[in-house]
Amino acid sequence: FQASRAASLLPQLLLRRRPASAGAFALLARPASSASGGLPPLTTEIHPGIKRGAFSQLTDADVSAFEAIVGGDHVIKDADEVLSYNIDWLRICRGQGQLVLRPKTTEEVSAIVRHCNKRRLAVVPQGGNTGLVGGSVPLFDEIVISTSRMNSLLSIDPVSGVLVAEAGCVLEQLDREAASQGLMMPLDLGAKGSCQIGGNLATNAGGLRLLRYGSLRGTTLGLEAVLPTGQVLDCLTTLRKDNTGYDIKQLLIGSEGTLGIITKAAILCPARPKSVQLAFLGLDSFQAVLDTYRLARRSLGEILSAFEFIDSESMRAVKQNLGLSCPLGEHSFYVLAETSGSNETHDREKLDGFIESVMSMDGCATDGTVAQDAGQFAHLWSLRERIVESLLVDGYEYKYDVSLPLADIYRLVEHMRTRLDGRVIRTAGYGHLGDGNLHLNFTTPKFDAKVLELIEPHVFDWVRDRRGSVSAEHGLGLKKSQYIRHSKADFAVRVMAEVKRLLDPNGIMNPYKSIWIIWPLM
Ligand code: FAD
Ligand code: MLT
Ligand code: ZN
Repeated sequence: FQASRAASLLPQLLLRRRPASAGAFALLARPASSASGGLPPLTTEIHPGIKRGAFSQLTDADVSAFEAIVGGDHVIKDADEVLSYNIDWLRICRGQGQLVLRPKTTEEVSAIVRHCNKRRLAVVPQGGNTGLVGGSVPLFDEIVISTSRMNSLLSIDPVSGVLVAEAGCVLEQLDREAASQGLMMPLDLGAKGSCQIGGNLATNAGGLRLLRYGSLRGTTLGLEAVLPTGQVLDCLTTLRKDNTGYDIKQLLIGSEGTLGIITKAAILCPARPKSVQLAFLGLDSFQAVLDTYRLARRSLGEILSAFEFIDSESMRAVKQNLGLSCPLGEHSFYVLAETSGSNETHDREKLDGFIESVMSMDGCATDGTVAQDAGQFAHLWSLRERIVESLLVDGYEYKYDVSLPLADIYRLVEHMRTRLDGRVIRTAGYGHLGDGNLHLNFTTPKFDAKVLELIEPHVFDWVRDRRGSVSAEHGLGLKKSQYIRHSKADFAVRVMAEVKRLLDPNGIMNPYKSIWIIWPLM
């Protein structure tokens, strides 16, 4: 797997099928970093302005009631065991929750939530705890309701492609089950080995192939959830068409656990492609990345399944911090262009044509390679998927996830690089170019309040001024909730607050997150 000039690459386009598991890597653990040496500070120390809501304190009688619902073995009280449920994946947030409940059924979730609502006990739904905005862990003493035991696949229909599963099913496992029926999950992301379908829906996760398979808002046909009052909302249809009244399930998708606990979902799975190919290109300007994307859309058309970009600083992070090797030389940018189709010969011809156009266009790609087998395919994808993990090794990570018009997308990285010059280890930009989604990251050896002051709110203002979104796919969680008005009109935010009040009159469901900032003020 040598670095090869793309010019000499065309004859060797002997592309292999993507492996059935389709996984580039399973998320095993968060990497060690200087910041992860000890415990992260309590979130309440970092955000002293957030005050505990007027919720009740947990009593022994509450714990007994929960034990009666889920069984003593599924009520976690031991402080050491509870700790991992209090800390987020980035190890930036640490809550003070004292209790974790692990229900098995919708009925158990409903009974728990009914009790909490009656007693005004605050709760946090938690799936795989891979969220990146501090939404999945408590702040104060909220009770964690983990969906991990709700992990049954309920049905897969190979004809319609509809898969019905409980919320705690891990994405990668669902994809394996789908593969056994010639199908695939319409969603794929670096955390697939740990994240759960319920968490994916609650964050409306985007991932690597949204460009091709669309958002979960489109591929979710039905959903069941327990509302904050304990009532079960049954919208678990498997129909593709159903225009009877409002589509209430959409409220739960992307609600980040603030409107209810998703317990089951019906997902429309596309047919698993027979031929998947991956080109990896080196480019020397961002304009070349945009030109290459334009060409990819034109020449690859319906078989284009991912178009991701990586800047040189992000590539340095995976090389230096994780020891991964890059098959190409040094470039300002790298692009992964993937195709998924049903006819290898036809798809290969198209990819050849695309590479030929890219190479013959002045100022476009100057270097490239194509995955020759499953190992190379996985390796090339790991260079992109493991950036998030590699940045943590620097120490502390300031993480931003924005949508911008394509013309502005890399200007923000350059602008911030200049602004933070000399104060950070790196300013790294990469992301889902086809979705107009930039992941912008800064790292320092440890948390630096001065750096944060230079970043926020400046970065959010910059995005607002270009009519972008301050959260493209990770959600608002705890970290970005105060910036909701940067991307949503005031009246829209008020309507959200009314919906929250209607469904969660006591505000027990994941307080302090998402729209919480405005909700108590209404
Ligand atoms: P958690 O982290 O447990 O929870 C996330 C939020 O959803 C919390 O607010 C929680 O309260 C709520 N929640 C969880 N389960 C439920 C439920 N059943 N009902 C109601 N609310 C619930 N995101 C992307 O969009 N695209 C990516 O490409 C992407 N890549 C990632 C790569 C890595 C390595 C990591 C660590 C994260 C990545 N993410 C990505 C972040 C993404 O949000 C999560 O990985 C995933 O969607 C969250 O699922 P989870 O089960 O871990 O949810
Ligand atoms: C990704 O696309 O890799 C994820 O959204 C996580 C991130 O790096 O921000
Ligand atoms: Zn992403």
